[in-house]
Amino acid sequence: MALYQTAAGILDKLHRKEGAVKTLVYDSGYKNVRQLYALLCETLRFSPVLEDVITSAELLRGPKKLPLNLAKVLVYDLLFGKGLQCGGRWKATILAHRARLQAELAKLKVKKKVSSNQDLLTSMGGTTGGPALPRYVRVNTLKTSVSEVITYFTRKGYTYLGKARSIEEIGEFAQKRGKRFLQDLHIPDLLVFPSDTDFHKDSLYTAGHLILQDKASCLPALLLSPPVGAHVIDACAAPGNKTSHLAAILQNKGKVFAFDLDTKRLATMSTLLLRAGVTCQELANQDFLTINSSDPKYQKVHHILLDPSCSGSGMPDRMRTLDEEAESKQNERLEALSAFQSRALSHALSFPSVQNVVYSTCSVHQQENEDVVKNILEQHTDFRLVKALPSWPVRGLNTFPGSDCCLRASLSETLTNGFFVALFQRKNKDCKSSNTGKEQRVTDVKSTGIAPDEKQSSDSDDKSDTIHVPLKRKADHVENGKTKAKKPRKKKHKINKA
Ligand SMILES: C[S@@+](CC[C@H](N)C(=O)[O-])C[C@H]1O[C@@H](n2cnc3c(N)ncnc32)[C@H](O)[C@@H]1O
Repeated sequence: MALYQTAAGILDKLHRKEGAVKTLVYDSGYKNVRQLYALLCETLRFSPVLEDVITSAELLRGPKKLPLNLAKVLVYDLLFGKGLQCGGRWKATILAHRARLQAELAKLKVKKKVSSNQDLLTSMGGTTGGPALPRYVRVNTLKTSVSEVITYFTRKGYTYLGKARSIEEIGEFAQKRGKRFLQDLHIPDLLVFPSDTDFHKDSLYTAGHLILQDKASCLPALLLSPPVGAHVIDACAAPGNKTSHLAAILQNKGKVFAFDLDTKRLATMSTLLLRAGVTCQELANQDFLTINSSDPKYQKVHHILLDPSCSGSGMPDRMRTLDEEAESKQNERLEALSAFQSRALSHALSFPSVQNVVYSTCSVHQQENEDVVKNILEQHTDFRLVKALPSWPVRGLNTFPGSDCCLRASLSETLTNGFFVALFQRKNKDCKSSNTGKEQRVTDVKSTGIAPDEKQSSDSDDKSDTIHVPLKRKADHVENGKTKAKKPRKKKHKINKA
């Protein structure tokens, strides 16, 4: 029963906007995190169908008063999941209603003129009612390579369809079923599978060769692209997907100082990093705001990734409409989050040697995104924004000059979770890092497959087998609110892709 009680408790908390599903799952202390998370995601996805069936079957009418959210998780498993695995005293109630629940589900399908559960879900606007999120899989290059993984899946009967040419192609692909996959068009180490592909039992996944990570969440480490051997800070790191991505970019050479306040999340992170073969990390259960930026330990830190706590409003389970009271509570919460995010970003920019800082959130709210960036640019005039992945189709909201340097992501426009990224660069960067100049950029290409300046080329319509590595950094950037134009590129030099 613990599974269903815990899941129902989390649904209650979600309803009260007390956190995102993942956070609440980790915080619940329930042992089988994966089982609980899967049950919750599926119950949320089937929510409109479950509510309809439960109401029609009059399941909540009995004298015992079964709570709605508990009914939902139990009925989900009975009708769509693995069957009731436990259920305590409620199991008998649910089983007594089994025939009625099944009959109501059948009636609903007839009413909606569909035959499968999936079609019923689509017809009733399950999840967000938008396109399905593809199943993105990041290849952990610390343990394997993209070509090895492609070979592995083709041997398992999957068809490899090559590199995607557009987001639309990925969108059409994600709706289909079957054993097939693509390489992502923006992120070379990312493979794309149909939405319903499940990897939890796959041996490459369990051995840490594959990381199940949304595409948008791969952007911060990729945009930061520290060179191999660099010292990097991951300021709010747990559960560590971006840390392991950073370690892969660094090829486990150099150092990632990873901080997080939450002990439980750090413990999970430690396990995940071990599984991913990460060895260059130094984890600390510390408040990033209290880290002494002048400590000599951090004097070689030129790169910081800041992915602080946020409202999580870009995650599918949080995309809900709010009533007035909830909206006013949310505004208070957003103010507090935005204040914390600004402090953390300001602190990141205060590290004396830092040159590049990536700021990201999985929030869709301007207060946590553009407002934070604008505020910090005004305070730290020694930093500018660099245009992140220029050909990315969705840019920051037009709330200050240069806001289009930031990028946004969403399910409907980029087939990802809702996300925001801004890339800050110290204005004197070229002077400070001139000793690493050319070699460093070539190293960047080896580690990530994309040179920092060249991210736009690899995600544009470049379908050749080479990427072009410019010898000098010439990204658009913003200084004191004005966009400085890119100078034309003079020389290019080609490197064969891995
Ligand atoms: C959005 S999550 C980070 C996700 C992580 N970057 C990843 O990719 O797996 C935000 C994290 O910030 C942590 N956090 C919040 N306030 C913090 C602080 N002052 N110092 C360090 N970590 C903090 C939270 O515990 C939470 O784990």
